[in-house]
Amino acid sequence: MSKRFYITTAIDYVNGQPHLGHAYEKVIADVIARSRRALGEEVFFLTGLDEHGQKVQQAAQADGKSAQAYCDELAVSWTALAAKLGLTNDDFVRTTSARHKEVVQAILTKLHAEGHFYQDSRDGFYSTKEETFVTEKERLPDGTFPAHYGEVVKLSETNWYFKLGAHQQWLIDHIEANPAFIQPESRRNEILGFLKNNVLEDLCISRPAARLTWGIPIPFDPAYVTYVWFDALVNYVSVPAALGDPVICGALGTENSSFIPHTSSLSAWPADAHVIGKDIIKFHAVYWPIMLKAMNLPMPRQLLVQGWWQKDGAKMSKSTGNVVDPVAIIDDWGLDAFRFYVVRELDIGPDGNWTDAGFAARYQAELANGLGNLVNRSLSMLKRYRNSVVPARHDELAPDSAKATADTIAHLRASELQRALHSVWILVTRANQYVDQTAPFKLAKDPAQAARLDEVLYNLAETCRVLAVLLHPFIPGTAAKIYGQLNLPGAPDKLVLAAWGGLQAGHTIGEPAALFPRRDQPAK
Ligand code: MSP
Repeated sequence: MSKRFYITTAIDYVNGQPHLGHAYEKVIADVIARSRRALGEEVFFLTGLDEHGQKVQQAAQADGKSAQAYCDELAVSWTALAAKLGLTNDDFVRTTSARHKEVVQAILTKLHAEGHFYQDSRDGFYSTKEETFVTEKERLPDGTFPAHYGEVVKLSETNWYFKLGAHQQWLIDHIEANPAFIQPESRRNEILGFLKNNVLEDLCISRPAARLTWGIPIPFDPAYVTYVWFDALVNYVSVPAALGDPVICGALGTENSSFIPHTSSLSAWPADAHVIGKDIIKFHAVYWPIMLKAMNLPMPRQLLVQGWWQKDGAKMSKSTGNVVDPVAIIDDWGLDAFRFYVVRELDIGPDGNWTDAGFAARYQAELANGLGNLVNRSLSMLKRYRNSVVPARHDELAPDSAKATADTIAHLRASELQRALHSVWILVTRANQYVDQTAPFKLAKDPAQAARLDEVLYNLAETCRVLAVLLHPFIPGTAAKIYGQLNLPGAPDKLVLAAWGGLQAGHTIGEPAALFPRRDQPAK
């Protein structure tokens, strides 16, 4: 069994409101997963939900429900979002599932036996809102703590800690020796700066069960539950472990376990890409590698860190109503318009800004007038002038197509999704210019130009076919429609199909139809 290309997203807090930010992260991971499959690789794409914690416990209590019933209800809208976004995830992790909890406990048991944890009592300031101890360093000049912490109280508590000290130098060395490990580079520099200028404090991994019951019990000390990161981050290995991943099962020594299968149905670890937002980089670039090192597991190959979306220049916030609801946009404009826009508008890394006008403008210019118009007029002319029958092969646009294909593939391999779309659009633009330059509607009026018209029509139809293949990872529904209108069997889901000359002379295409209807209304 060969190792699959393993890609993950962050797992969303189940009690949050699904918005553009969550949807964006899932879409970029899906585009990467689809492009790897299109390149011929086997893929394992994992996404899911982070369900434990005090906020969930309190909200469930307030609702008079069990925490599990409360999570089960909320999980419905998240799994519906994944489907709405067209995600091709191979599994969906919920941190309240038995398979996840058992792997978390197996890891804790092993690391405890190997001396990675110790118990300690700390006095400090605690934010209930953020469920975290706040350090003196964070105090503002007026003596108070930043508002997002809410009420901060003095608290003395004994907890379990994970030793980090011994790991700092190798982690710096690892990040320096592997430039691709944290992308983009600005984020890598941020983490290197942090590691070089601070002494890592040991990580608190528990909360007393007396205060927090909604968590995974610590197997060697039932008075405690696991706190946040030893639960959430472990999802990336718990699901492959539950499917018998040989690398993880070997390192954890799970051969005596009752829940892990003894035959493997998946080889995934190490992860090829963890797609995450910029706010959780420290957990993924510092704590997670150290946890893996302690588990004796190889490092993930890449952390792909995306920036944050704002709306109209301001932070998205439910309380002010300033949110972009991806479901409403998709219902209004279609899934592919949404997927296209978020990838085309924002490179993976910098922050982005959503405006309804910006969305509508790209829809109109690039989808309706660009791609949609090209496909519609190319196929309509083939229907009108040649009774839908493809003429003999001709290679005038073959070099443009080959260049777009090579560039797109190179960018996809590097997870440069915005650049990949840019390369595809060079071909869209070139083909639209080709229509204007060759003016097939004029050629059609002159019987002496019949051979030239054949050439032009072939080049246009074949370019549409190549575009379907190149666009499949990004806008799969549209790619399938183009293939359907060309009356081609199967799906345009392998990049080798982008080789010029796929359309055969004599083939009869299907019925042309608008891909992106023009709209007068701006997005709601
Ligand atoms: N549960 C943790 C992650 C644990 S991963 C082992 C969490 N959840 S979250 O629901 O708050 O965020 C999920 C993801 O959405 C994170 O990667 C976060 O950065 C991303 N985003 C949340 N808001 C966002 C934007 N406004 N823009 C882009 N991404 C955003 O953190």
